[in-house]
Amino acid sequence: MLNIEDLTKRFGRNTAVDAVSFEVVKPAMVGIIGASGAGKSTLLRMMNRLSDASSGRIVFEGREITALKGAAKRAWQSECAMIFQQFNLVPRMDVVSNVLHGTLNRRSTLATMFNLYPDADINHAIGILDRLGIAEHAPKRAEALSGGQQQRVAIARALMQDPKVVLADEPIASLDPMNAQLVMEDLRRIHEEDGRTVIANLHTLDTARRYCERVIGMREGRIVFDGTPEQLTTGAARDIYGADASFSEDSTSTSIETLDRGQLRALREAEAAV
Ligand SMILES: Nc1ncnc2c1ncn2[C@@H]1O[C@H](COP(=O)(O)OP(=O)(O)OP(=O)(O)O)[C@@H](O)[C@H]1O
Ligand SMILES: [Mg+2]
Repeated sequence: MLNIEDLTKRFGRNTAVDAVSFEVVKPAMVGIIGASGAGKSTLLRMMNRLSDASSGRIVFEGREITALKGAAKRAWQSECAMIFQQFNLVPRMDVVSNVLHGTLNRRSTLATMFNLYPDADINHAIGILDRLGIAEHAPKRAEALSGGQQQRVAIARALMQDPKVVLADEPIASLDPMNAQLVMEDLRRIHEEDGRTVIANLHTLDTARRYCERVIGMREGRIVFDGTPEQLTTGAARDIYGADASFSEDSTSTSIETLDRGQLRALREAEAAV
């Protein structure tokens, strides 16, 4: 389905991503971990074609993504949505319009200029917000929402593109543990329920272990681990983070409290009632 072949990115003399290869054979939830500067963001940016590879290839369902230009490249960017640590919403714009921005790639310039959206799109956007438990915030300005709610709006905007692949670059790094958990649950749902592939850069081991079925560890631009959460032992983690004997799991942990799904649902309902 998705093949990354010898993907490399150089910035001057620095090789940020160094001959990275991996394959995703069926829709999956993949976590990418590694120390700061390991090349995680650079890898995701190349996959979304926000940044061009220096060499190597990305092939998705038989198409060479690395070779796409113009409209074909923009079409890929719709198929492969991106979620960022800082949400990247338009703060003063209402929530539903932010979500509708996810349709920009397929709308005419004129319709965009006059902020015209078909009713069907508006209803669809509200439906997605409802699914994520934040429909009642639809008319509010994005900036009026909490960080966790804003990230869920960003997820809704991504879903508006009906992407096959969702790339998330540190989606929970700015959130408190509770909201971090809600956002990770949403990412898992859009993988499990919709069959989308989710690839998320995560800065903590415990999040990767808990939510991902596969974890890729990067160190100095290279893949040094690719396995299941069970295979991600403390020793493997030490290799990935390049830490010495003083390495402690706590330093890479968010210490998310464990809530079961019933508790999470109750939390969402309480939030929706505010
Ligand atoms: N636009 C750029 N120009 C020059 N060097 C860059 C650029 N972007 C990234 N780099 C370098 O590439 C390397 C990998 O950076 P990258 O941001 O991909 O790491 P990361 O794993 O995402 O780190 P973090 O966990 O801090 O987000 C670093 O050495 C970084 O300084
Ligand atoms: Mg990064």
